Formats: sequence, C-alpha cells, structure tokens
Amino acid sequence: METQIPEFYEIYGRKFKLLIGQNEIAKRVKEIAAIINNDYKEKKPTFLIILKGAIFFGSDLLRHISLECEIEVVRARSYGKTMKSSGNVNLDMKVEIENKDVIIIEDIVDTGLTLSKLLAKLNEMHPASIEVAAFLSKPAQRKLEVNVKYVGFEIPPSFVIGYGLDYAEKGRHLPCIYSLAD
Ligand code: IMP
Repeated sequence: METQIPEFYEIYGRKFKLLIGQNEIAKRVKEIAAIINNDYKEKKPTFLIILKGAIFFGSDLLRHISLECEIEVVRARSYGKTMKSSGNVNLDMKVEIENKDVIIIEDIVDTGLTLSKLLAKLNEMHPASIEVAAFLSKPAQRKLEVNVKYVGFEIPPSFVIGYGLDYAEKGRHLPCIYSLAD
C-alpha cells in the first residue's frame, strides 16, 4: 500500500516536488529484476551495492532476484554538501570480484565520472564481466560515456532526492523521488 506522502518537501530552505511515486518505483524495480533474472539465468552474479545512495534500490531490487547470487557493498563519495558533481570521487574498496559476473547497483548516473572511476578500479580486479544497474539516469548531464545496461528511469537534469538520494545527507529516507522545484 502507498504511504501518504506530501507533494513537496523542504531541506535547508530548498523546495523539492514529487517526481516519481512509490507504486511507479515498485513496478519498475520489479521489471528490472525480471530482466536481470532472465539475462543471468545461466550465471551466479555478484551484486555490488554502491553506498549510500543505492541502499533502497539495492535492497528492493535484490528481493526480486531469484538467482543464486552474492552481495557486496562499497562506499563512494562525490557531492559532499553541494548539488554539483566535484569530479573527485573517493572509493572505499574492499571487494572480492575476481572471475565473478558483477552487477553494479547505483543510485543515479549524472556526469558519469563516479561510474567511470569505479569501473576502471573494478576492471583491475579481473571480474569475469561487469554491467551496471542504475535506478536513475540524467543523460543530458553526461561528461563521460558509460554503458548502463539497466536503467530505472531517465530524468531531466534537475537535482533529485529520496529513495536513497540525499541533499547534504538529508532526504534519503523518503520513499519517492523529489525534484528541486525552486
Ligand atoms: P556522477 O559522478 O556525476 O555521475 O554522479 C554520481 C553520484 O553523484 C551519484 O552516485 C549520486 O551519489 C550523486 N548524485 C548525482 N546526481 C544526484 C542528484 O540529483 N541527487 C543526489 N545525488 C546525486
């Protein structure tokens, strides 16, 4: 059942408007899981959840995965307290992915800098394969071309919060996606 949620949400005086609701999210996450279940039916993938942003997407998606699989987590930090990608990405990496079929679970691909850096590091660890599942993508913002096989929703360039995504660490807990409205 859909929780009663407000149309607007405010953080540090900035106003955000509801963009994607709970039912729509749940439906799309289930669809992506079904596609992955089919694509990997001969494999035992390792899902790599990128913290903190992909906590909700990762846990919701994985509950619909019917494959034998493993879960790893890694922390990536990029924005700090701003709404702009800094290009400085710190990765806290201690994952075992050699010879594994890895599916990265990301919250959002914006400029593509985080993902490219992550992919470069992971490829040095000799996985059998790597694909990316991103809950959101802002194609108009791309500075580097990255191959994202599974995308939840393509959205306009506006800054978004909710469903794991934050503005200066606020708003992650919201069950829906809100977009900057001021
Ligand atoms: P990129 O390196 O520019 O692709 O940015 C990737 C990371 O920046 C994501 O994993 C998010 O953590 C963060 N990010 C990008 N866009 C947004 C947004 O609209 N809201 C909140 N975080 C974002």
